[in-house]
This record gives sequence, structure tokens and C-alpha cells, in this order.
Amino acid sequence: MNTVKDYIKTHKERFLEELIQLLKIPSISADSAFEKDVLLTADVIKSSLEEAGCDRVEICDTPGYPIVYAEKIISNDLPTVLVYGHYDVQPPDPLELWTSPPFEPVIKPTEVHPEGAIFARGSCDDKGQMYMHVKAFEYMIKEDKLPCNVKFMIEGEEEVGSESLAWFVPRNREKLANDVILISDTGMIANDIPSITTGLRGLSYVEVEVTGPNRDLHSGLYGGAVANPINILTKMIASLHDENNYITIPGFYDNVENLSKEERAEMAKAPFSLEAYKEALDIDSVYGEKGYTTNERNSIRPTLDVNGIWGGYTGEGAKTVIASKAYAKISMRLVPNQDWEGITQLFKTHFEVIAPKGVKVKVTPHHGGQGYVTPINTIAYKAASKAYKQTFGKTPIPQRSGGSIPIVSLFEKELESKTILMGFGLNSDAIHSPNEHFGVWNYLKGIETIPWFYKYFTELKT
Ligand code: BES
Ligand code: MN
Ligand code: MN
Repeated sequence: MNTVKDYIKTHKERFLEELIQLLKIPSISADSAFEKDVLLTADVIKSSLEEAGCDRVEICDTPGYPIVYAEKIISNDLPTVLVYGHYDVQPPDPLELWTSPPFEPVIKPTEVHPEGAIFARGSCDDKGQMYMHVKAFEYMIKEDKLPCNVKFMIEGEEEVGSESLAWFVPRNREKLANDVILISDTGMIANDIPSITTGLRGLSYVEVEVTGPNRDLHSGLYGGAVANPINILTKMIASLHDENNYITIPGFYDNVENLSKEERAEMAKAPFSLEAYKEALDIDSVYGEKGYTTNERNSIRPTLDVNGIWGGYTGEGAKTVIASKAYAKISMRLVPNQDWEGITQLFKTHFEVIAPKGVKVKVTPHHGGQGYVTPINTIAYKAASKAYKQTFGKTPIPQRSGGSIPIVSLFEKELESKTILMGFGLNSDAIHSPNEHFGVWNYLKGIETIPWFYKYFTELKT
């Protein structure tokens, strides 16, 4: 099957050009001003799946953005791989920090991508990684190498909580029936250290509002005599961690799975340089929960972070005012066994309890989802591992990630299938940040590796 390399060599420029066209459309699901662009992106993906050789390609309507579904069924006796990805992207702001506009893709070299990386919002998360699957499929069809059935399900609301997909999946169980779900929407350790993501954290996202007096007040006439909502909110937030950086919400850790010494020792074997980590972020020290390493803090431990905080006067100059209200958005990353709805409730109760007299507190839950761990003794893991070995020349390391793809646990519940996470991005690719990029090498390596997964999965399964 060496011809996958030849096929990529022949079609490399077109593969890049097609992705660049896709990246030009600002499919920002969070901002309704971009509705037309999100819808257009779904159409473009539909066409590319048709051109690649899918038989049945549909734009499936949902209460929100549509889901692009496509399939190629070659035999009912063969296994079926369901590919999931998302065509929506995060908002690109702050725009002034981009070195080139987020929706005008350009290829530039970087330190870790000397052969060039495509700079654009969505290049790595997830348009570039999703599109690798379309091109790998194209190769298998055109060269008559597709060993099993394939289904594609590409959604447009992942970055805002996948509500419509959660509606769609239970209504289409039969259509979506599969033997394994294949996703490229995570990362790997480094281009010379391949890894397979074996865990995702859960998430609970809430917004809080603290209200003091019924109107903004003169800070001289009233300051010191009434509760200042911003002072109070920051104090309440600060109290959510203790001096060891443990989260203080009662019951928060109740269901947290404690890894054995052996498992932690196994994790610690993954190559990691604390010096390089600090240098890349320009920090003189890391920070976090006492008793855990950096890699443990960002994967097997739950966390609580303020994502945004606002209120009062933030314009030019000074205004002497006590704001009537203060707000914050807070995310909690959860580990398997922590129920996200239960945690949301614990947070709400605690935040109301710690509010002092003189203010009112409102907690509004946003989206969330369960964490996920994939076993490594499955056929899917073995097939993926062999595929990386084939194309990277090295056996990949299993590694839990700190990020979340909440829909994965829903797939397991509704479709009764396991997910294999074959991500080809790097942490330094700046997903969700200004200057997001995806290595050209990584894009092509993904296209090269995916067909081997299909081959080994089918061989091991039949
Ligand atoms: N692709 C990411 C998740 C990811 C990235 C997992 C890298 C592991 C490694 C996904 O698009 C994402 O951003 N998820 C959100 C959650 C969602 C509910 C908005 C996240 O993790 O913040
Ligand atoms: Mn993603
Ligand atoms: Mn994302």
C-alpha cells in the first residue's frame, strides 16, 4: 500500500488548495452574524464528499446548524467506520494579535513546522483534521483500496456545545450504526513522538452574576457603605481554591478517579520537558494543584478556571463608580466519573451559599458534558497503533488529553460504540488562540496514516 504516498505526492497541491478554500469561509458558530457562512461551509463539505466518491450525501436539518452525512457501503459483511468531525470554528478575536487575517490562509514556516504551516482559524481545529479524512477516503476510492464501509457525520456546533448533534444522534441510531467511531480533533505529543489520545475531560460551563445596589453609584458618596459587586465577586472567585490549589466546592472531588501509583508512573514516562514548556509560554514557573505534575494537572485532575470577568468602568481614563453588577464566565474541566450536571448543581449551591449579605447571586449553567477514557486493548486501538507504526516508524504513546469533546460519551451511550482519537495537531498549533495553524507535514501525514487504520481495523475485525 505504498501508493498512498505516491497519491499524496501527485495531489499535494490540490489537497492544500481545497483546504485553503474551506478555511476562507468564516464558519463561526458562536456568532449569528456568520450564519450564512456556517451554512455555506456545510454545502462545500457536501460537495467535497460527493466528489471524493460517497454514494449518499445529505445535509440533515436539525433545530440548529445542519449535519453533513455521507456514506459508502460496500458490503453488509464488512465493518463500518463512522468518521466524526466539525466544520464550525471558534471566533478569531482578538484580531489585532493575528500576524495574518484569520480567514485569509497563508503557509508560513514555524520552529516546529519548518516545512510550513497553514495559518487560519480552524486550520487545526477542526477543518484541517476533518478534511484529512475526506482526502484519505478519496485516495481509497480512486485507488480501489477501501477495505470496509464508511460513514461521515460532520457537525457545525461543536464549539458551542453540540446541542443539535445530541438531538440528531438518538433519532438516527440505525443510520449511524457502526463498529468504531474515528475522530481527528485532538493532538499528539510531537511530530517525532506520535501519540494516541486515550482520555478527554468533561466540562461544566457556567456564568455568574452578582448584583449589589439597584444602580451604579458614586464611589465617593457610597463607597465603603454598600457591597461592591466587583469586590465581592473577585473575593468569591478567589475562595474557590485553597492555598494548595484544591477546589473548595464541597463534594467536588467525590467521584474523582484516583489513579494507581503504577498508572501515574506509566504516564510519567511520556517525554516532557518542563523547561521547554515554560519557555514556550514565557512563564517563570508552572502553577497548580499540590501533589501533581504538570501533565497530571492538565489531564487526570479536575480544574476550575475563570474564562472572562467584567463589570464597571473599563473605558479610557477614570470614572469613579461602584457598578450595580459584576459577571464572570467559569469553566470546570472534569474527569471520568464526575457527572457534569451534578457538578454544575454543586457549584450553583456553593456559590449561592458563599455570597455575603448585601448582594444577590445568579448562576446560569451553559453547556457541558462527560469525560471519556478509551481502553487500549481494543481492536481499534491496536489498528491505530499499527497505522502510526507504519507511517511514523514508531509505536505511538497512549496519552490522556485535557480538552473536551463532550459528544464522545454521548456516542458511547446512544450508539454503543467506542471512539478512537487519532489527532495530528500539536499543542503549539494555537487552537482557539490568535495565529492558529496546522503543519503541512501533519496534514499530509494524517492523510497517509488514516488508510492504514482502515486496513488494519478491517483485518483485525474480520
Ligand atoms: N478539538 C477541541 C477539543 C480538543 C483539542 C481535545 C485538543 C483534545 C485536544 C474541541 O473543538 C473543543 O475545543 N472543545 C471544547 C469543548 C466544547 C464543548 C466547546 C473545549 O475543550 O474547550
Ligand atoms: Mn475541535
Ligand atoms: Mn475547539
